[in-house]
Amino acid sequence: MPICSLSCVCVCVCMCVCVCVCVCVCVCVFVCVCVCLQKDVRDIFTPLYFEAQYELGEHNVQSRASSSFPPLKAILQQRDGHTNQVTNQTQFARYCAWENCSTNLQVSAHLVLPQSYNNVPYFALGNGKSIMLNITLANVGDDAFLPKLHVQLPNNLHFSRVLDAEEKQVSCEISEEKNATISLDCSVGNLFIPALSKLNISFLLDVNQNSSAGDLTIIINATSENYENNDLLHDNTAYLTLPLKYAVDFNIHGLVSPSSFIFGDPDLMPVDCYTQKLNYTFRVMNLGPSKALDTKVEIDIPHVLVPHPDRLIRVTDLQTTQGHCHVKNSSWPLKDDCDVEKPPFYKDLVFYMSQISKRTMFCVRADEACMVIQCRFGNLEMGKEVTINIEVELNPAVLQISPGRHAVMHMFSTISVTSPVKDNSTIILNDNSAVVKLEAQNSQKLPPTVEYMIIGFSLCLGLIIFGMLVFCLWKAGFFKRRLKEKKEKIERDSWDYVPKSESFS
Ligand SMILES: *[C@@H]1O[C@H](CO)[C@@H](O)[C@H](O)[C@H]1NC(C)=O
Ligand SMILES: *[C@@H]1O[C@H](CO)[C@@H](O)[C@H](O)[C@H]1NC(C)=O
Ligand SMILES: *[C@@H]1O[C@H](CO)[C@@H](O)[C@H](O)[C@H]1NC(C)=O
Ligand SMILES: *[C@@H]1O[C@H](CO)[C@@H](O)[C@H](O)[C@H]1NC(C)=O
Ligand SMILES: *[C@@H]1O[C@H](CO)[C@@H](O)[C@H](O)[C@H]1NC(C)=O
Ligand SMILES: *[C@@H]1O[C@H](CO)[C@@H](O)[C@H](O)[C@H]1NC(C)=O
Ligand SMILES: *[C@@H]1O[C@H](CO)[C@@H](O)[C@H](O)[C@H]1NC(C)=O
Ligand SMILES: *[C@@H]1O[C@H](CO)[C@@H](O)[C@H](O)[C@H]1NC(C)=O
Ligand SMILES: *[C@@H]1O[C@H](CO)[C@@H](O)[C@H](O)[C@H]1NC(C)=O
Ligand SMILES: *[C@@H]1O[C@H](CO)[C@@H](O)[C@H](O)[C@H]1NC(C)=O
Repeated sequence: MPICSLSCVCVCVCMCVCVCVCVCVCVCVFVCVCVCLQKDVRDIFTPLYFEAQYELGEHNVQSRASSSFPPLKAILQQRDGHTNQVTNQTQFARYCAWENCSTNLQVSAHLVLPQSYNNVPYFALGNGKSIMLNITLANVGDDAFLPKLHVQLPNNLHFSRVLDAEEKQVSCEISEEKNATISLDCSVGNLFIPALSKLNISFLLDVNQNSSAGDLTIIINATSENYENNDLLHDNTAYLTLPLKYAVDFNIHGLVSPSSFIFGDPDLMPVDCYTQKLNYTFRVMNLGPSKALDTKVEIDIPHVLVPHPDRLIRVTDLQTTQGHCHVKNSSWPLKDDCDVEKPPFYKDLVFYMSQISKRTMFCVRADEACMVIQCRFGNLEMGKEVTINIEVELNPAVLQISPGRHAVMHMFSTISVTSPVKDNSTIILNDNSAVVKLEAQNSQKLPPTVEYMIIGFSLCLGLIIFGMLVFCLWKAGFFKRRLKEKKEKIERDSWDYVPKSESFS
C-alpha cells in the first residue's frame, strides 16, 4: 500500500418510511468516501486508490400517535466476509511506443578545454579559465518523467553554474560530498522529457588552483522516475577524464660582457695570467601558465682548448637571485697553473704569416671540455624571473697554445633547463635553451722575438742579396776603370790627329 494522504468526504443520507400513517421510521446512513492520493504522483504507473466506507448514522423515530411499541432500530445487513468499506483503484492508460512504456535515456558528454597540445586537449594548472562540460541528454524511448542528471565530480572541481539554466529548466543541488567527490543532482526539463527529444546542457566548472597534475574522472548518469528496460541502461552513464597538467614556457636570455676581446698583444705583458675578466648574465623566466616544479638549469661554458689540459676559464663569483648554483667537478684532467706552453718561434712565424682562420668552441650536454654550472631554483611561480651572474676570468695564453689556436675564436656557452622535463604531467611549451657567444680575436701583433727574428732575417737577406749583386757586378767588370783608359787613349789619339802644318796657322 502506498503511503498516501486520505481525503474524505462524508455525507448523511436520510430516508423515512411510514407504516400506517402514524408511524414513520427515518433511517440516516452516514457515508464517507475517501480518496487516497499519493503525494506528488507524476507517473503513470501508480494507480489512483479509492476507498469508500459507510455506516449507520443516528436515527430518529417520530411517532405521530402515542404507542406502546418501542422504537424500531435500524441495522445494516452484512454478509459474511464483507465490511462496510469498499476500495478500488484506477489505472492510467497511455499511448506507448515501447513495451512497458520504457523510456530510453542516452547521455553523451564532452569537456571543452582551453588548451591542447599535439591535438590532445588538456587543462593547464594555474590558468584561471573555466571548463565547460557539455552534456547531451537524449530520450529515444517513451516519455521520461522527472528526469535527473547526476554528476559526480572530484572535490577539486567546483561546480560554478549551468549555462541558460532557467531557459533549459535545469536546477542543481549538491546532494552529498564524500570520498573526495561531490555529487550533484540536477532536475532537467519541465517534469518530463518527451519521446525522441534532446537537451543540451552546459555546466561551468572551475579547477581548484591548489590541485596537482593528474587525471580527474567525472561521472554523469541520467535517471528518470519511470520504467527503463535493463538492457537500455548502459548508455545512461558517461565517464569523462579531465587531464590536469603543468604547462610551462621558459624565457631564457644570456649575455656576456664584454662580448669580445683581443688577446695576444705582446705589449701588455701581464703579471697574472688570468687577465681577461668577463661577466656572464643569464635570465630565466617562467611565462607559465603553471608553476615550474623543482626547476633546474645547467650552464655549459668551454673551459679548455681541446686537446690541451690547461684551464682557460675559472669562476670567481657565482650568484643567483633564487635557489643556489654550483660549479660541477670536472672529469677533465685540468692543469691549473699559469705555466702555459709557449709555441716555438717558427710556429709563430708560420701562424702570423698564414691566413686568418676561425675556430668555434661549443658545448654539448655532458661535455667534459666544458665547465658545468648547475642551478636549482625550487618551484618557480609563473611570472617569476631568476638572474644568474657569473664572474669569470680567462687566461688568454691558453688561446695561444699550438696546435689548436686560431686568429678568431668563437666560444659558445649554453644554458638549458634540465628540470622540469616533458612527461605525462608536464608540458614544455617551447625550446628552453639559449646560447651566448664570446669572441676572442688575436691582436695579430708579432711577439718581439718573432719581430726581431724577422728584422734580423730580413737584414741578413738584404745584405746577402746586396753582396751577391755587388759580386755579380764586380765579376762583370763593372768596377774596372775602362773610361779612364779610354780617355787617356782618346787624348793621346787627338794629339796624334792634329796636323802639324795646320795646328798654329
Ligand atoms: C473495481 O472497479 C472495477 C471497474 O470499475 C470492477 O470491475 C471491480 O470489480 C472493482 N473491484 C472491486 C474489488 O470492487
Ligand atoms: C515488462 O514488465 C514486466 C513486469 O515488470 C516484465 O516482466 C517484462 O519482462 C517487461 N518487458 C520487457 C520487454 O522488459
Ligand atoms: C558547448 O556548449 C556551449 C553552450 O551550450 C556551446 O556554445 C559550445 O559551442 C559547446 N561546445 C562544444 C565543443 O560543443
Ligand atoms: C571511500 O573511501 C574509503 C577509504 O578511503 C573506501 O574504503 C570506500 O570504499 C570508499 N567508498 C566509495 C563509495 O568509493
Ligand atoms: C546539441 O549539441 C550537439 C553537439 O554537441 C549539436 O549537434 C546539436 O545540434 C545541439 N542541439 C541543440 C538543440 O542545441
Ligand atoms: C591553497 O593552498 C594554500 C596553502 O597551501 C592555502 O592557503 C589556500 O587557501 C589554498 N587555496 C585553495 C583555493 O584551496
Ligand atoms: C546514478 O547516480 C546516482 C547518484 O550518484 C546513483 O545513486 C545511481 O546508482 C547511479 N546510477 C547508475 C546507473 O549509475
Ligand atoms: C662584472 O660585474 C661586477 C659586479 O657587478 C663589476 O664590478 C665588474 O666591473 C664587471 N666586470 C665586467 C668586465 O663587466
Ligand atoms: C669536487 O672535488 C672536490 C675536490 O676535488 C671535492 O672535495 C668535492 O667533494 C667534489 N665535489 C663533488 C660534488 O664531487
Ligand atoms: C605516462 O602515460 C602513459 C600512457 O598514458 C603510461 O603508459 C605511462 O605509464 C605513464 N608514465 C608515467 C611515468 O606515469
